[in-house]
Amino acid sequence: MFQKYNYLIVGSGLAGLYAAWYASKYGKVAILTKSSIDVSNSYHAQGGIAAVTDKDDFPALHFKDTIDAGGGLCDYKPVEILVNEGPQRVKDLIEAGMKFDKEKGHLALGLEGGHHKRRVLHAGGDSTGKMVSQFMIDQVSSNENIDIFENHIAIEILVKDKICSGVRVWDCNSQKEMVFLGDHTMMALGGTSAVYKRTTNPETTVGDGVALCYNIGNQICDMEFIQFHPTSFYSEKGFTFLISEAVRGEGAYLVNRDNKRFMIGKHELKELAPRDVVAKAIFNEMKMEKSSNVYLTLDHLDGEKIKRRFPMINSLCEKNGCDMTKRIPVAPAAHYMCGGVKTNVDGATNITNLYVCGELASTGIMGANRLASNSLLECLVFGKRAVDHCHKNNAKISEDYKIEGYSCLNEKDDTFVEVKNRISDIMNQYAGIIKSEKSLKFALNELDNISKSSNIIENEIYSLRLENLICVCKLIINAALLRKESRGAQIREDYPDVSNGYLHHSIQEKGKETTFINIEK
Ligand code: SIN
Repeated sequence: MFQKYNYLIVGSGLAGLYAAWYASKYGKVAILTKSSIDVSNSYHAQGGIAAVTDKDDFPALHFKDTIDAGGGLCDYKPVEILVNEGPQRVKDLIEAGMKFDKEKGHLALGLEGGHHKRRVLHAGGDSTGKMVSQFMIDQVSSNENIDIFENHIAIEILVKDKICSGVRVWDCNSQKEMVFLGDHTMMALGGTSAVYKRTTNPETTVGDGVALCYNIGNQICDMEFIQFHPTSFYSEKGFTFLISEAVRGEGAYLVNRDNKRFMIGKHELKELAPRDVVAKAIFNEMKMEKSSNVYLTLDHLDGEKIKRRFPMINSLCEKNGCDMTKRIPVAPAAHYMCGGVKTNVDGATNITNLYVCGELASTGIMGANRLASNSLLECLVFGKRAVDHCHKNNAKISEDYKIEGYSCLNEKDDTFVEVKNRISDIMNQYAGIIKSEKSLKFALNELDNISKSSNIIENEIYSLRLENLICVCKLIINAALLRKESRGAQIREDYPDVSNGYLHHSIQEKGKETTFINIEK
């Protein structure tokens, strides 16, 4: 089966939805998503969208906070674009009808780690991702120029002579292979943190976009920087969910088993230090105490106000037998991929007609450690810029593709889940928040053993998913091994200090040696 569109958007997080909505004024758009349209990392975002909207705040301050959090690895131009174009994108959303929370008639602004100003817009208290995503889903669902294909898994990006013509897809509904051709193709498949056992991400977020792009020769940048969110709910059963940094923004403290605040003296912003600083301090505290978690304590705050501000977290805590107005057990969990597929400031990649946006893209903004709530803003700003660039640039695509005869052996599902769980255990234990050469090499070896013992069948969907999963884990591990220093979200036990010799982005490209490229200031 063949389909043809002007714009193919793969992924239904905020970047994909916003780009689809904006592109619909230029032509016919298809959104392809591997599960249902409301499953994405964006949907789970609690904190909000960081953008300058207050008269006492300025893009230059937002710029500085982003650069400072990024540990020396942010590229300046994309950050400038983000902080300067961001406020207008937020205004566009508001004008289209999106309702952010207000206080006394003004936008209510939250505070999160690394920000020196209150600038985080939120909606539904702590349901910002859900509210913004749902708002965009409503826009795209009712748009005649947009077709939505749920349960369609992208299995190959179609490229000839370095020009992208679309994607090959497995339609899980009809159990058939399809070819979608597009004048422009945008990958917005999100991050990869669900390759870790302890994660805030939905289980579908396993970096397929990274593997698909790597396979066709895109440059993959800074994969060593997987950001661990400091405060994810801790339970002995392993169940977890995000406890937004905005909870600390409203005054919650981090304490150890003895109820002692351990962030004092570690950073001038204490509990609101950038994420990497807080996550590392929690890890060290847990190690010292030999415990599995620390606590967020809120009993000094107005409990009713806290429940009103964070209704979703409150309800999830209650369901898990925890009163959030007292104290919440928390520990770090894999949360965000700071690197990804290298793009320029228009979302373009080294393959003509192939654009990448959202968490999957490495625009140069996030550096070694993303500033909280910059990601939804990046989806809006760079989603629009990519569509504008597509609109002005046309390359002739090839229609010379055929159905390859893919199959899906559904009986492989149980084995796939079992192997995926084993891999996520390995990643958590040996390539997680703290790594060393020994642990990373051990993880690589385990992954090789899994590859060797797996029954890989050519052109079969579960085999492909497993190969992609292992490919992404290896990209993370290889980059982490090469960076012999600790910086931002990369913490190496054997190289605990920052080294000026590593003020570079790592670049991995299929069939080539890994290289480092300069930061652009
Ligand atoms: C949070 O609410 O703490 C998460 C926001 C983010 O990851 O940017």
